[in-house]
Amino acid sequence: MLDPYRVREDFPILKRTVNGYPLVYFDNAATSQKPISVIEAMREFYEKSNANIHRAVHTLSQEATELYEEAHKEVASFINAESYEEVVFVKNATEAINLVAYSWGLKLNPEDEVVVTLMEHHSNLVPWESLSRIKKFKVKYAGVNYDGTLNYESLEQLVTGKTRFVCVTHASNVTGVINDIEKISKLAHEHGALLLVDGAQSVPHMPVDVKKLDVDFLAFSGHKMLGPTGIGVLYAKRELLEGGEPFLFGGDMIKEVTYTHNEGRLRISWNELPWKFEAGTPNVCGAVGLMEAVRYLKRLGMENVHEHERNLTIYALDKLREVSTLKTYGPGREIDRCGIIPFNMDGLDSHDLALLLDQFGIMVRSGFHCAQPLHQHLGLKSSVRASFYVYNTREEVDRFVEVLREVSEGLKRQR
Ligand code: ALA
Repeated sequence: MLDPYRVREDFPILKRTVNGYPLVYFDNAATSQKPISVIEAMREFYEKSNANIHRAVHTLSQEATELYEEAHKEVASFINAESYEEVVFVKNATEAINLVAYSWGLKLNPEDEVVVTLMEHHSNLVPWESLSRIKKFKVKYAGVNYDGTLNYESLEQLVTGKTRFVCVTHASNVTGVINDIEKISKLAHEHGALLLVDGAQSVPHMPVDVKKLDVDFLAFSGHKMLGPTGIGVLYAKRELLEGGEPFLFGGDMIKEVTYTHNEGRLRISWNELPWKFEAGTPNVCGAVGLMEAVRYLKRLGMENVHEHERNLTIYALDKLREVSTLKTYGPGREIDRCGIIPFNMDGLDSHDLALLLDQFGIMVRSGFHCAQPLHQHLGLKSSVRASFYVYNTREEVDRFVEVLREVSEGLKRQR
């Protein structure tokens, strides 16, 4: 079992106070905090091994290259990829999805279709909708039930022989709802479509095995899983990466470029996988930090991480019922979900409630969390979102609920 009090000792930021109160950090779906091992690995990289990779024969460049390549291997084993060659480092999950859209999606024709769902983050909606305006293919939107779960019937009706891509989130960044990726993978593949999974909210919080799920593409960000900002991952099956065209061009993604005098143009061949998709000097230090974050999560055990968050979510859902003017969204406690709870309080705008919580040292996100179509679909203007991680405790949930109760009582008295 995971002991959040033991985990907390590894996170320096959790010792600080905000507005005179101990920090309660419940905005983990936006970004996670970083353990000291990640911070130190990055500092050590800059203090001892900083150099560019794949460029020079000197010792520092060799060391930096080894660390960078090792990071790919660590991530590959974390998600059970066949090899590090299937792991492309990018800036974040958003860039990973855009890479798929502009490398593979760019080949789509007007008769093709892409199926997404209404529970997606904007980063898995907007690239497809924008590309469809250029390439003239159709984007179809699968429905969501009132409790935030995916309407599988709607999805099944939309996926046909014309579907080229099914693009779906593994876990919703608004409700924490976990989609049945194995089922969706079968559906997509039966119709000859490729499956792109947005794993930004699942990979940091539960075991994710790309072979078991049989996903073609998986996108996720390092900063939501204890790593630094500016580094993310696109996993793709090897044959797809081998057949795919790069999206960014420049140094390191090239094997050979020669100028042919008679044709007056360049002859170009791509580098080996995964470097073919990593143009320019990459975020080497970010990769070092991500590797350390993955090692930290492996030590905790992803089953334990998920179990801890699930227990905390059930505990919080039960306690939040004590606040009469508060309404939570998403499925009930019986449905497994990631540690995310969206809610609103009668008579208060979501940003105002988040600001009030901040006065008591409690950090939550408010607004529509880059998922406006989902809010619209659920009939919400916005919501407040509490999202948990490995270092959050029941005591923190108690304080959070206590503050919400005081706010609610205060508002009632004013009326
Ligand atoms: N995608 C992040 C969130 O849901 C930023 O807050």
